[in-house]
Amino acid sequence: MECKYLNFHGLLLPRIAHSEESIKYFENFQVNDDDVFAITYPKSGTTWMQEILPLILNGGDFTPVKTIPNWDRVPWLEETRAALVMDKMTPPRLMVSHMPYEFMPPSFFSSKAKAIYVARNPKDVLVSSFFFHQMATFLDDPGTFDEFVDTFLAGQVLFGKWTDHVKSWRKADLGDRILYVTYEEMVKDLKGVVRRFSDFLGQKMSEETLEQVVSHCSFNTMKTNAMSNYSLVPQEVMDTKKSTFLRKGISGDWKNHFSPEQEEKFTAAIREELRGSNIPFPWDED
Ligand code: A3P
Repeated sequence: MECKYLNFHGLLLPRIAHSEESIKYFENFQVNDDDVFAITYPKSGTTWMQEILPLILNGGDFTPVKTIPNWDRVPWLEETRAALVMDKMTPPRLMVSHMPYEFMPPSFFSSKAKAIYVARNPKDVLVSSFFFHQMATFLDDPGTFDEFVDTFLAGQVLFGKWTDHVKSWRKADLGDRILYVTYEEMVKDLKGVVRRFSDFLGQKMSEETLEQVVSHCSFNTMKTNAMSNYSLVPQEVMDTKKSTFLRKGISGDWKNHFSPEQEEKFTAAIREELRGSNIPFPWDED
């Protein structure tokens, strides 16, 4: 059986959306100064950012989020769709990427493009990813939850180890071109975070527009938006009988899935790998 993944410097990229050509396109991409990136490790809030960013950058025009699927509205730069839609985008171009910092295209480093890095509690990332692997037929079956804890810790998952990803982006030498935020902050205070985003991106937003954006980007509203809830994807590709893409949208669901032993092992492994990297995360004591 053909392998479902492309191997890029040891990272697993699903073939359904990535190819040798799409990677070349990514590597040779000419980043413009006004480009805006949302960077995430998979299952950390990418789709959410694809909803929020266009609304901030276009002053609260809801047309794109209601008419264009998320993957074309704010494409993944490393995916095959990018080459098809990027030329049609009007500046500022918005894109997402799951790539570690060191693999970003050379022009990203020399540009003034801005990046928002969204990190999520790795235990919730693992749970979200576990259900995603069950429903997405283009990914390997995750096995049991216990098995998947090991697979995740070994980095045998999409885009490699979670710790490598957060460490690479925390080390980023981008000055005020990068903003760090957590999924948990977004869950707790979406309005405050959207305001931080608009300040960071130099966009003025009225209180009324801000309220509308926050309401449109709530989990329950996004769940009903066919342009963002992946309902356009055929059942053979994403089996919604197994799980929905917008599954729970909460912080702390890991508590419903990890046994005390799994939690202890997982936390010890993540702590060990983050040791010395001076990365404070709000969920450290959780
Ligand atoms: P869960 O599986 O825990 O529900 P990504 O887009 O990076 O693949 O991340 C998907 C995760 O983000 C899913 O987590 C999904 O429900 C969550 N998500 C997407 N939109 C959200 C929103 N508006 N509010 C809260 N969580 C959201």
